[in-house]
Amino acid sequence: MKRPRKPKELENQPGKYDERNTLNDLDGRSWLLLTKSFWESETSQIDKSAYSHPAPFMVKDIEKLISLFTKKRMTVLDPFVGSGTTIIAANNIGRSCIGIDLNEEYKDLYLNRSKGLDILQSSQYIVGDSNIVLDNLDMEVDYIVTSPPYHNILRNKSKGTRNNNGKNYRMSARDGIEYYSESPNDLGNLDEYANFLNAFKEIMTKAYSKLKNKKYATIIISDFTIEKKEVCVQADIVKLMQEIGFIFAGTTVLIQTVKPLYPFGYPYAYKINHHHQNLITFRKLEDE
Ligand SMILES: C[S@@+](CC[C@H](N)C(=O)[O-])C[C@H]1O[C@@H](n2cnc3c(N)ncnc32)[C@H](O)[C@@H]1O
Repeated sequence: MKRPRKPKELENQPGKYDERNTLNDLDGRSWLLLTKSFWESETSQIDKSAYSHPAPFMVKDIEKLISLFTKKRMTVLDPFVGSGTTIIAANNIGRSCIGIDLNEEYKDLYLNRSKGLDILQSSQYIVGDSNIVLDNLDMEVDYIVTSPPYHNILRNKSKGTRNNNGKNYRMSARDGIEYYSESPNDLGNLDEYANFLNAFKEIMTKAYSKLKNKKYATIIISDFTIEKKEVCVQADIVKLMQEIGFIFAGTTVLIQTVKPLYPFGYPYAYKINHHHQNLITFRKLEDE
């Protein structure tokens, strides 16, 4: 039997490349490694240029996802692109990306951080409400990776401190961090959690219609607290994505080792410190 030939750019990969591979450009070993249900988040120099955004992805983490779910020259969509990390990560490994964000300042941030990176002409950063922009986007994409605002947690008025016998304990990593915008269309500005879920569902329904059949989408989000109550956000996201038609494919836990620990409930009650994000992946599988 003839040995399958690797694409040229993969010739330095150590494992065997299977020519039947329709998903990505990875050899078998690299593919297998990325199916592990936890990854450690990886930082790199370029992450620093995004730090004026309240919640940027780490470029390396997104490169890994894109390399698992696409082949070279394919197109990725991120409807909440913020500082443009997804466009940069896609570009680093030869993929195009359409990124959308409401906030014009984040586009400027992206333009600054991508200076000198030779971004593919086919990539675009579109400023606008994804709920409107997606209606007018006349193209199909090969993969979606995105992270919406975490409801209104950046608007949490608590200064993140608690007085304990005259001592102030810092209670939150969010203290002093800006929220995204004042726009009523910003998902981070919706008062009710149910409204946030509905608005996210509406945008993801439109994104679903742009995704090619048999392709994948990854939502990056962690659980969080609303009015001091822990919410299993992951469960709600899976439910709404399934209602749209997406098939749940699995959750990768992205471990964030460098975050500080806060004594939220100590010494009276157990309160979790969220030191991971959930990378929740879905597939579009429609009858042909
Ligand atoms: C969690 S952040 C995404 C950060 C991004 N992954 C990065 O690496 O910088 C969510 C983003 O959603 C944007 N956003 C909120 N509502 C939106 C809407 N309706 N349409 C487009 N973008 C929106 C916010 O401006 C914010 O930048």
